[in-house]
Amino acid sequence: MVAAIDVKAGGLTPEGYQEIADAVGWDHRSVTQARQLIINARHIVTAWSAGDLVGMGRASGTGSHYAHLSDIAITPSLQRHGAGGAVMGHLLKLVDREIREDATVTLHATPGTEAFYERFGFKPSATPFLMTRSRSE
Ligand SMILES: CC(C)(COP(=O)(O)OP(=O)(O)OC[C@H]1O[C@@H](n2cnc3c(N)ncnc32)[C@H](O)[C@@H]1OP(=O)(O)O)[C@@H](O)C(=O)NCCC(=O)NCCS
Repeated sequence: MVAAIDVKAGGLTPEGYQEIADAVGWDHRSVTQARQLIINARHIVTAWSAGDLVGMGRASGTGSHYAHLSDIAITPSLQRHGAGGAVMGHLLKLVDREIREDATVTLHATPGTEAFYERFGFKPSATPFLMTRSRSE
């Protein structure tokens, strides 16, 4: 049985970023690179299970016309248990609270994950793998 998964705003360290990114097989980032990603984020959401970091998500943007989501990842052993959805839900709550109704929210979907993002209103765009979400539609 999987322990309950909690999500919250913040809570990401450079080492935590590296742990999750390495676990899902992304290009390795140095502590300095990971720290910059965290510092430059407008919002960060983390997922936790039994006190361990198990997932993350990040939003950048202006806080008004535009937001871009990235680095959404759940540690492989806990994927398909709702953690990714919980991270997305919390991130979009923080983003939607501040952006305009006509703002565009974008993300680059890793091939094969499009259906996951479609659950949150994202649609494929003409640019391959770019999906956008309009709040006014
Ligand atoms: C994509 C990812 C964040 C989803 O997180 P998750 O915790 O597995 O997702 P959830 O359990 O909340 O939701 C799963 C549901 O999303 C949908 N889904 C569709 N394609 C999916 C995919 N490739 N991976 C996961 N879920 C997918 C399904 O409806 C699925 O439900 P099911 O398990 O009953 O079929 C996670 O699989 C992950 O970290 N993948 C590796 C890193 C990555 O590719 N990140 C995306 C960068 S753009």
